[in-house]
Amino acid sequence: MTAAAVPAPGVERADEPVLLRPARPGEGAALFDTTVQSVRALAAGRYSPEQIAGWMGTRSPAYYEDIIARGRTVVAEAGGEVVGFVDAEPGEVTRLFLKPGAAGQGLGARLLAQGIAAARQGHDGPITVEATLNAEGFYARHGFVRVRTGFFSHGLGGDPIEVVVMERPAEAGEQGQRPRP
Ligand SMILES: CC(C)(COP(=O)(O)OP(=O)(O)OC[C@H]1O[C@@H](n2cnc3c(N)ncnc32)[C@H](O)[C@@H]1OP(=O)(O)O)[C@@H](O)C(=O)NCCC(=O)NCCS
Repeated sequence: MTAAAVPAPGVERADEPVLLRPARPGEGAALFDTTVQSVRALAAGRYSPEQIAGWMGTRSPAYYEDIIARGRTVVAEAGGEVVGFVDAEPGEVTRLFLKPGAAGQGLGARLLAQGIAAARQGHDGPITVEATLNAEGFYARHGFVRVRTGFFSHGLGGDPIEVVVMERPAEAGEQGQRPRP
């Protein structure tokens, strides 16, 4: 799949200061740094210090360059800086991380919509995600339902990271949002 398969990131919200666009070659370090900052600040409450310290395992910026080359990664850019990104494979949203200063402003929801759209390319069934424990509520808010617990399978080395495997039915609405309780 090529970068062109990612559907028009950010175009519908081009008036906003945070732009969504396909990741570019050379941004592997930015994705690496975003993941490190995101995990340390936003996931620390649900994982041990050892898990947080070892989260990246043997991953490097080059690992993220390989992911970018697959053409399904969308970044959020603010002030010329990458502040978040989402990545997908057919049928799965595989990574979604925001820098702490970018969280809580609706950006995660915007990136998730892009990730779901990318996961739908060449795939008709449900969309899955391996949600970190801190993010289960976020995904539930967007139509994902808990299937089982497990361990993150897209890392490289490091301690096992508990996740909640969640599934979003194919028939979920475009916004994927369930009614408020
Ligand atoms: C999870 C994450 C992507 C959410 O991004 P965000 O920008 O903070 O979320 P948003 O501001 O877009 O929130 C969208 C909605 O989800 C809700 N929400 C966000 N985080 C939530 C959580 N942890 N639990 C329950 N609801 C949550 C928001 O209240 C909001 O609801 P609303 O539509 O009623 O206003 C972000 O916090 C993050 O990067 N976390 C650390 C990395 C991580 O765990 N990523 C997931 C890996 S699978």
